[in-house]
Amino acid sequence: MVRANVNSPFRKAPATHAAHAGSKRPSAARLRLTVLTAAAMAAVALSATTPSHAGEVEVLHWWTSGGEARAAQALRDMITAQGDTWKDYAVAGGGGDNALTALKTRVVSGQPPTAAQIKGPQIQEWGAEGVLANIDAIATDGNWNAVLPPAIASIMKYQGHYVAAPINVHRVNWLWVNPAMLAQAGATVPTTMASFFEAADKLKAAGMLPLAHGGDPMQDATLFESVALGVGGVDFYRKAFIELDAATLSGPTMVAVFDAMQRIKGYIDKGSPGRDWNLGTVMVMNGKAAMQFMGDWAKGEFTAAGKVAGTDYLCVPAPGTAGAFTYNIDSLAMFTQSSPQARSSQAHLATAVMSPEFQTVFNLNKGSIPARIDVPLDRFDACAQQSSADLRAASSAQTLIPSFSHKMAMSPAVEGGIVDVVSRFMHSSLSPKAAAAQLAAAVKAS
Ligand code: GAL
Repeated sequence: MVRANVNSPFRKAPATHAAHAGSKRPSAARLRLTVLTAAAMAAVALSATTPSHAGEVEVLHWWTSGGEARAAQALRDMITAQGDTWKDYAVAGGGGDNALTALKTRVVSGQPPTAAQIKGPQIQEWGAEGVLANIDAIATDGNWNAVLPPAIASIMKYQGHYVAAPINVHRVNWLWVNPAMLAQAGATVPTTMASFFEAADKLKAAGMLPLAHGGDPMQDATLFESVALGVGGVDFYRKAFIELDAATLSGPTMVAVFDAMQRIKGYIDKGSPGRDWNLGTVMVMNGKAAMQFMGDWAKGEFTAAGKVAGTDYLCVPAPGTAGAFTYNIDSLAMFTQSSPQARSSQAHLATAVMSPEFQTVFNLNKGSIPARIDVPLDRFDACAQQSSADLRAASSAQTLIPSFSHKMAMSPAVEGGIVDVVSRFMHSSLSPKAAAAQLAAAVKAS
């Protein structure tokens, strides 16, 4: 039997989140103002309408692609099998910006869902609003402290109390490859940025599209994050995106990262702007593009289409990042509920999410690996096995780093500033040097 991700790498993960979460929080202040202004409204509204009424579980998420929807269905099935009613609150848009905007509106109007997909430092921000429920009793019953790596458990807690349940660990620094296309172009699977450019040039010369990319801010940032890690390495990534060091953000290595991004623009088709990430994955699947930089939710698409890892497609670390692991943890934060019935349905939800059965079925479909350390991985494919092994190795090597493009590393305000610059660079003729300078300025201003 393949052992699960016991001795989880997160046991040794550097405590970057907690330290960083509160360091730059203008958006939290803004959010607080709006929510507090609405607090009185909310009290009245709650007595009049409760969207999550008796026995109903309403979950806000953005799992709308083929693989994601199959994963979400696993949650819905578990909830309905327990006798609760599922109310789907899906807001499309990769990366979740649309969903989080919708969530703010709902909470401000006093109608929070039972739970919402909120991740990383944002859990602290919502916790500070006073709108999240303390679910310590459920966590104690389920022995969460023992089955979760401490670093994941601490992300789920606000002021020492559990307010969210973790679902998985996604790896972001992956490259998805169509091996037949590479073979046809006489290219080898890239392991470094230099060999990536070589392969891309060969593909282009053979008349094939090297890269599937959708020009939206989430995808631009996901690509940029992996390229930055590939060009600059882990220490550079930490200095730039965890420590937010101004000299690093505007320095020569960052200029080199934007130089690489500039070159990558030449491997992307004209249809890229506005294309959803999952349609990019379909392009790799169907031989329309040879590679895609994307987190392993892309694997959910391959799985949903019946494709087999290692044969139909390859998952390899993004070029130049093999020793590192950028993590992205999905979690459901629980909102305070007014009625005992709604609280009891919420407890069912939190318990279900942390069950080994759910963490298996959901993640088989989602492309990620379970957050629990005691879930056997023998039903998982080669990419998941590699993810788990690489997570462990990266933890020991201190190369486990939070993905900023998926809201794990910094406050939303800082992240927004960085993503704006990256996206502007991708969709204009801004020079690499100017982009690096703008990056530092955006972080300073946020
Ligand atoms: C990530 C999220 C994943 C997946 C992806 C694409 O931020 O953690 O669960 O949904 O966005 O939308």
